[in-house]
Amino acid sequence: MPPALARPTLSQLYARHAARWHHSITHLGYPEAYALLAETDMAARQRPPRYVLDAGCGSGAFAEQVVARGSTPTHLTLLDPSQEMLEQARKREWRETPDTVSGRLEDISALPRLYDTVLCAHVLEHTADLETSMNQLAQALTPGGSLLLAVSKPHWCTALLRWRWGHKAYRPEDICAALARAGLTGINAIRFVKGPPSRTSCGYRAVKPV
Ligand SMILES: C[S@@+](CC[C@H](N)C(=O)[O-])C[C@H]1O[C@@H](n2cnc3c(N)ncnc32)[C@H](O)[C@@H]1O
Repeated sequence: MPPALARPTLSQLYARHAARWHHSITHLGYPEAYALLAETDMAARQRPPRYVLDAGCGSGAFAEQVVARGSTPTHLTLLDPSQEMLEQARKREWRETPDTVSGRLEDISALPRLYDTVLCAHVLEHTADLETSMNQLAQALTPGGSLLLAVSKPHWCTALLRWRWGHKAYRPEDICAALARAGLTGINAIRFVKGPPSRTSCGYRAVKPV
């Protein structure tokens, strides 16, 4: 295929859309869906998480919702393979300057610490193997730490996303089973109640046993 007609790679697509990403997902209501996950997590834990990792952070929308609900300083690590997305994530108004790491979910075992909360929104759709990715996310947690996920589910809207962005979609029961196989407990599928997130995605919370 001549270069002019070749489909852009995933990293080219995200680089191209990075500058508008935050505005687009805000318009579609994704930060509200992430707020629901953050509130569910905060209600279930005894104290706010100190160390938080957002794996595949994009513009930082999910981390922003979690950090906003913590009363204590949060040490936030934002990880994404896209420099353009990380640049957008740095622009959010953080109370504490986050660490930004250029990397992939597949590399998180190389990070120097474990995290009280790991966030991962709409990234498992892009990794090669759900089982491996879930184990990597679970291994990044401290004992008692929580994993918060947002993952695309089968729906005609997600079929469009697949055509455009190559997104896979997973049935909630398959995500819950994969969380259990990764050794996590307290698994909760959290339905998003309105707007596009209610059609495209489902949220999840699970905990690493102490
Ligand atoms: C659909 S966007 C979601 C971004 C953000 N989590 C949000 O909810 O707005 C997917 C993000 O995952 C990143 N990404 C793609 N492959 C990845 C991988 N293997 N590991 C980590 N991040 C990845 C992309 O660069 C992009 O920023």
